[in-house]
Amino acid sequence: METKRRTPVIWMNGLECTCCSESFIRSGHPLVSDVVLSMLSLDYSHVLMAAAGHQAEAALEETRTQHAGEYILAVEGNPPLNEDGMFCIVGGRPFLEQLKEMAAGAKAIVAWGSCASNGCVQAAKPNPTQATPIHKVIRDKPIIKVPGCPPIAEVMTGVLTYILTFDRLPPLDRLGRPEMFYGQRIHDKCYRRPHFDAGQFAEEWDDENSRKGYCLYKMGCRGPTTYNACSTVRWNEGVSFPIQSGHGCIGCSEENFWDNGPFYDR
Ligand code: SF4
Ligand code: SF4
Ligand code: F3S
Repeated sequence: METKRRTPVIWMNGLECTCCSESFIRSGHPLVSDVVLSMLSLDYSHVLMAAAGHQAEAALEETRTQHAGEYILAVEGNPPLNEDGMFCIVGGRPFLEQLKEMAAGAKAIVAWGSCASNGCVQAAKPNPTQATPIHKVIRDKPIIKVPGCPPIAEVMTGVLTYILTFDRLPPLDRLGRPEMFYGQRIHDKCYRRPHFDAGQFAEEWDDENSRKGYCLYKMGCRGPTTYNACSTVRWNEGVSFPIQSGHGCIGCSEENFWDNGPFYDR
């Protein structure tokens, strides 16, 4: 009997903070250990691979040359274009170069988080390094955007599980995000929504209305304009999400969220 090789995944890191990786390793459904050890073959990842240095770069090259057209390229962070990409060097050369090279042989590309999907904090004005989301650099491959700063762990593993199970990309919205996780606004399923509809709002942080769990709209909550699964899937295996812990949504999965400020209206 022939054993089918698990789909290779290359996980690259550009300009980023690594919290997308931190989120991913906390997935409970499916367990991240099942994803990494049984469902796919994680051939390259700065955070999770045992190899380092030349050994790690050799693994990357092996997948690129021997599994062209088969591997999924998962990208955390983005490339800075200024100064020929010199603001982000990986393995001795600009990340921009490495990204283009690996994208050429990828079956599909997953843009992890807001950095890869829409630029995030390093692309905020005045963006001195010219940090650029990956779809503006790679234009000839399907790219699935999984925005959020970071994305929810189960959303990340859910996207990978879908691709591996059905051998196709999940249905995407017009911005390239999986509809199943980004099809609704935070506001549509927020448990504070009945207070919004009743005109009951917190007027100050920690006022009486805030303690009663009233709507945070007047404090600057961006739930009405933010598409993400936080109010349904929630975080920490479904325990809570920012609004449930008393903080308005800052729209971390939406384009230019750093420049759409201020975060607070009070
Ligand atoms: Fe970090 Fe946010 Fe970028 Fe993910 S999207 S790497 S959490 S800054
Ligand atoms: Fe909408 Fe935010 Fe109010 Fe929730 S707290 S109902 S998301 S405005
Ligand atoms: Fe981000 Fe808003 Fe969810 S800030 S984590 S999209 S509730």
